Amino acid sequence: MKKIIIPKNIVTVNNENEILKNNAILVEDGLIKEFIPINNLSNISNELEIHNYENYTLVPGFVQTHIHLCQTLFRGLADDLELLDWLQKRIFPFENSHDKNSLRISAQLGINELLKGGTTTILDMGTLHHQEIIFEELIKSGIRAFAGNCMIDRNDLYPSFSESTKWNLENTYQWAKNFHNSSNGKIKFGFAPRFVLSCSEELLIETKEMMKEFEGSLYHTHSSENKKEVETVRNLTGKDNVEYFDSIKILDDKTVLAHCIHLSDEEISLLKNNNSRVSHCPSSNLKLGSGIANIPKLMKNNISISLGADGAPCNNSLSIFKEMHLAALIQKPIHGPTSMDALTVFRLATIEGAKALHLDNEIGSIEIGKKADFVLLDLNKNDQPINADENIYSSIVYSADKSNVKAVFINGEIIYDNNSKNIYDENELSESAKIELKKLIERA
Ligand code: GUN
Ligand code: FE
Repeated sequence: MKKIIIPKNIVTVNNENEILKNNAILVEDGLIKEFIPINNLSNISNELEIHNYENYTLVPGFVQTHIHLCQTLFRGLADDLELLDWLQKRIFPFENSHDKNSLRISAQLGINELLKGGTTTILDMGTLHHQEIIFEELIKSGIRAFAGNCMIDRNDLYPSFSESTKWNLENTYQWAKNFHNSSNGKIKFGFAPRFVLSCSEELLIETKEMMKEFEGSLYHTHSSENKKEVETVRNLTGKDNVEYFDSIKILDDKTVLAHCIHLSDEEISLLKNNNSRVSHCPSSNLKLGSGIANIPKLMKNNISISLGADGAPCNNSLSIFKEMHLAALIQKPIHGPTSMDALTVFRLATIEGAKALHLDNEIGSIEIGKKADFVLLDLNKNDQPINADENIYSSIVYSADKSNVKAVFINGEIIYDNNSKNIYDENELSESAKIELKKLIERA
């Protein structure tokens, strides 16, 4: 199946950060096959499907490396709390009250928001129960994802939201067997012990062991997010989070740690030496009052940094545009105005996200042979710079938001176009969400 996409310009995010003008993209079997100068298009067979987006800027699909789809339904219900209270008073009771229907709606709400906002690949941390529902919705939607059930085998904050170590390991294994590499490889398994405070050492270690059977899978957990969390981990293990992970040998290049705000120099060295990945979640870190991660320092140490919105009740949005905007702005008062420039941040949201997930041979940039995952942006509306086309990274990182997203392609298939193609019936989705939320709150 061949098709031609004709944009105004193409932000390649290749090693030279080239921006191509007057080129179309030939897509074949879901892959970027060729760039064709617009002048040569008249020679192209008119049997090809043509998608004309000549007023729009084509960029790689955005990658978010830390998401909780199961929490989307709880947006606005857990404001103005710090992490441990937020978990204890709101999020654990709510997650514990999910049934299959409420979880399905929560996943749909999240996927809808992500795709319409230009995010085409996610690493999702699921929830303890009914994980198959999240996989079903990921597969149906067409999004590219790593996902996995969130493992919890001890929970001092909310003891009823926990299962035995054996239950966690057996169910995880079954979900991994059923869903790793499903949907023609678009869906992969991300093993997700939640954080040190909700996982026994046995669970953390056995999960890493289990991963070996699932090539291409990842290990995904929270780390060093909040000062009280760090202190409690120290009381429990005698170590800081990253030090502890290193001591039980779960750090390597397949480990993605969300947050990493409160790190010692020694922990930074451990992340660097183990080539572990850090998912930076600036909006969540601000709203939960967790702190500001020293991303410039981590980047100077060549540690993999990518972006994630975290869950909807911690920020309260899943927009990659907000994450990019904040990732740039919050460092400037501390490290100076050039410390996180727009291009650097744009790369974190695209190719660096792909690298974090070991998908950079497939996605993250617009290059021949890669998957045709891309987003068309309208940079000539909604308070954009007058010269947006000459200053594209600035326009996207400092001025754009999801209302600038025109269309989204994954594997060369059109997933969303703001004129002609929706992901869900949004009225129906919103009605169902209200009903499911009401029932969930009654159960909680
Ligand atoms: N740490 C453990 N669970 C969570 C969660 O759901 N969200 C955030 N931000 N941090 C966590
Ligand atoms: Fe999180």
